[in-house]
Amino acid sequence: MKNITRRELIDKYFDFFEKSGHKIIPSASLIPENDPSVLFTTAGMHPLVPYLLGTPHPMGKRLVDVQKCIRTSDIESVGDDTHCTFIEMLGNWSLGDYFKDEAIKWSFEFLTNEEYLGLPLQKLAFSVFEGNENAPKDTYSAEVWKKLGVEEKNIYFLSKEHNWWELGSGEGPCGPDTEMFVKVKDCNNPKCTPADNCGCMVEIWNDVFMEYQAKDGKYIPLEHKNVDTGMGVERVLMTLNGLKSVYDIEVFQLARKKLEELTDTKYEEHLKEYRVILDHMRTSTFILADDIKLVPSNNGRGYVLRRLLRRAIRYIKKLTNDEKVLEQLSKVFIEYYKEDYEELNRNSENIINEIEKELNKFNKTLNSGMKMFEKTEKKCDGIIDGEHAFKLFDTFGFPLEFTLELAEEKGLKVDIDGFNQKMREHQELSRTASKGEFKGGLADNSYESTKYHTLAHIMLAELKEMFGKEVVQKGQNITPERLRFDFPLDHKMTEEEKEELTKRVNEVIEKEIEVTREEMTYDEAKKSGAEGIFTDRYGSLVSVYTIGDVSKEICGGPHVKNTKELGNFKIIKEESSAAGIRRLKVILEDK
Ligand code: ALA
Repeated sequence: MKNITRRELIDKYFDFFEKSGHKIIPSASLIPENDPSVLFTTAGMHPLVPYLLGTPHPMGKRLVDVQKCIRTSDIESVGDDTHCTFIEMLGNWSLGDYFKDEAIKWSFEFLTNEEYLGLPLQKLAFSVFEGNENAPKDTYSAEVWKKLGVEEKNIYFLSKEHNWWELGSGEGPCGPDTEMFVKVKDCNNPKCTPADNCGCMVEIWNDVFMEYQAKDGKYIPLEHKNVDTGMGVERVLMTLNGLKSVYDIEVFQLARKKLEELTDTKYEEHLKEYRVILDHMRTSTFILADDIKLVPSNNGRGYVLRRLLRRAIRYIKKLTNDEKVLEQLSKVFIEYYKEDYEELNRNSENIINEIEKELNKFNKTLNSGMKMFEKTEKKCDGIIDGEHAFKLFDTFGFPLEFTLELAEEKGLKVDIDGFNQKMREHQELSRTASKGEFKGGLADNSYESTKYHTLAHIMLAELKEMFGKEVVQKGQNITPERLRFDFPLDHKMTEEEKEELTKRVNEVIEKEIEVTREEMTYDEAKKSGAEGIFTDRYGSLVSVYTIGDVSKEICGGPHVKNTKELGNFKIIKEESSAAGIRRLKVILEDK
């Protein structure tokens, strides 16, 4: 197999798919906008969900990208040869355009053609879906592989667990997939299949055929069928270059060298420490680079960031007293990736400042926290109770997982239920604090939620009419039951103001105004006076939704077709959300 660099891999992939009419789109943010049900973007499909469900994408039906992804569900596995919490994922997309024939043919060509990856056919294996009560056996894909020259013995029919793709929530676009493996070593077991996970085959690519929408446990055929593919950059570089671990790829080689110099230690002698530090600092650097400017905190996304940074801090202490090397390490990642991810450069100061702040904060409490841990350890009888685990969290800033890890090293258990109970007592339940709840769900695209998306546009427009142009959306949260909307205002809304808003919004609804969508360039959108966060997220063209002369916003949708679909608008609650920010909870009722 030939050696390949990250740059070559990405360039080859883009070049190959551009030739067949795919348009390159930039990576979307790691932090899904307007979707609090998900902590981070976990796969390339995530930001494209509305388009997979039928909204036209401004750049067309064939797209290609490399998407930043974060997968923290197995953060504890970081340290072994293959796990990373951040990955770059290459993908080619058909949004209701080509399907199995073309997708498989192109995958085959990219993998085997000398101009691209040039992998020998005998080194490859393939898996396809064996079928179940919801969807048939995918003999079609197997036949396409065979026609291209793949021998039957290298095609494996596997179960839903292996060859089906859907998001963690089990809702949304989904379907069978076909996966591609590289045989990296000979296997003693002649009956070995990719499902055996024995390590002789490494999956490098996955073509998902999204022909269903999962809803309430049912699989409804989609009107337009999509292709979503995913090729993990780190995995491919490791496999093609014959490396033992992902931590041997170029970027980690550079960062490893820096860490060796700065700490006067050797990677080979501290594998686990190095890997945890490298991984967590790369992921934290990318999170902090996001324009949304997330900061470490005790809940939700901020909590994941805090866990990553604090875990890196704990491990760096094993190598040196000078923890500031973490900042130097972050700079290596900024430098390496900044050409592809401009935000790293743009926000580099923020990244370094936040790392420093978190380091200072944690250092203030770490020593006393460790003392308390040791005291607890002595008298705890093998199990750290909820109260102590919570105190470590609340007073000393130990993320629960941090305490779990310390406890495990000492052979102790932690009463997680007790911890959660304490947490509930102390705060409004922070849903994400307990282990296992970090796996994201899916952007909810139900009809009920769609109505609230449109309502949010109307409400913003009317709030501007009432309180001035400075009013912007400071955050929103939509469920099929209600809309929560934050906006700046220097006083509590009076009863009269609430009544006026209700009247205004209901008037717009009653006028039965059509909601229209146009595609235009980013500059045109700006000139047309459209509202929106101008992050140029989808390349040169953006979607703009207009509601008569009431509202015009850049938005990925989805939206209803006419305001009359909304029903009756009602304010349920008006309260403070932060200094100078009001929070409205509103609902739509049937008329
Ligand atoms: N969505 C598929 C994956 O992430 C391609 O593997």
